[in-house]
Amino acid sequence: MSRTINLALISSLLFFMANTAQADAGVGEQIYKHCKVCHGVKGWGGKEGKYPRIAGLPQYYLEKQLADFKGRKRINKPMVPVFKNWRFNQDAITAVSAFVSQLSLAGFERTHYEPSPEVLAQFDGKDEMLEVGEDIFQDCIQCHGEQARGKEDKESPPLVNQYPNYLRKQIVEFASGHRTHENSESLFGELETDEIEALLAYLNSQAD
Ligand code: HEC
Ligand code: HEC
Repeated sequence: MSRTINLALISSLLFFMANTAQADAGVGEQIYKHCKVCHGVKGWGGKEGKYPRIAGLPQYYLEKQLADFKGRKRINKPMVPVFKNWRFNQDAITAVSAFVSQLSLAGFERTHYEPSPEVLAQFDGKDEMLEVGEDIFQDCIQCHGEQARGKEDKESPPLVNQYPNYLRKQIVEFASGHRTHENSESLFGELETDEIEALLAYLNSQAD
């Protein structure tokens, strides 16, 4: 194949991809109207983490969670009515994920983690608490990356800029097997309550 044809093919492919992405974002914005009531207009979540922040999460992660919710692999009762809608097929999942993944966090004020006095009393102060959290996080780095920014090749989400209450709930669900996570028994099965709190404090300290 000649070089000119190659270039022409590549540029028309890029044009097609750019247009498809635009079309997806338009459809995605329409679908997102069904999500605002809980996740907020900007996808920042709320109610102290009852509704997680979803804005800016990677598209691969959003698509997987939505497919898991729909297939009941991950149980999320409040969202069941969303998926009863027959239009919520794979195309809709792709489109809304594309839209949500490009929602900005500019101006988002993350919830600051503050240990309760009872929790803090388990440590020699806040610095030691953060060190314990950092130690535990060494088991997570290979997949969630330095500073917990998430890693595409591991299909892992970022853990920064997320509500501590929401993350705590997920970790407890991993430990109990209510939500699936790789190696959950070895990673979460043995974690004590104060260690989970230390991990949350450390993750919270990693946000921008
Ligand atoms: C009635 C409230 C409600 C509506 C409407 C809703 N959600 Fe949710 N969503 C939740 C709750 C609650 C959770 C947290 C579940 C948990 O604690 O595990 C959640 C979790 C999620 C997550 C997982 C986030 C993560 O970090 O793993 C994604 C992604 C998500 N929702 C996307 C959407 C999208 C997209 C829509 C619209 C199509 C939507 N949600 C509509 C309540 C809602
Ligand atoms: C072997 C790779 C791997 C390791 C190690 C790992 N994770 Fe994960 N983690 C993942 C993947 C992949 C997901 C997405 C799971 C899914 O699809 O539901 C995830 C999801 C999560 C979530 C859910 C986030 C959300 O928005 O709902 C939390 C919280 C989490 N991991 C915490 C941890 C912690 C804490 C550690 C260390 C103790 C850890 N992970 C170690 C791969 C890993």
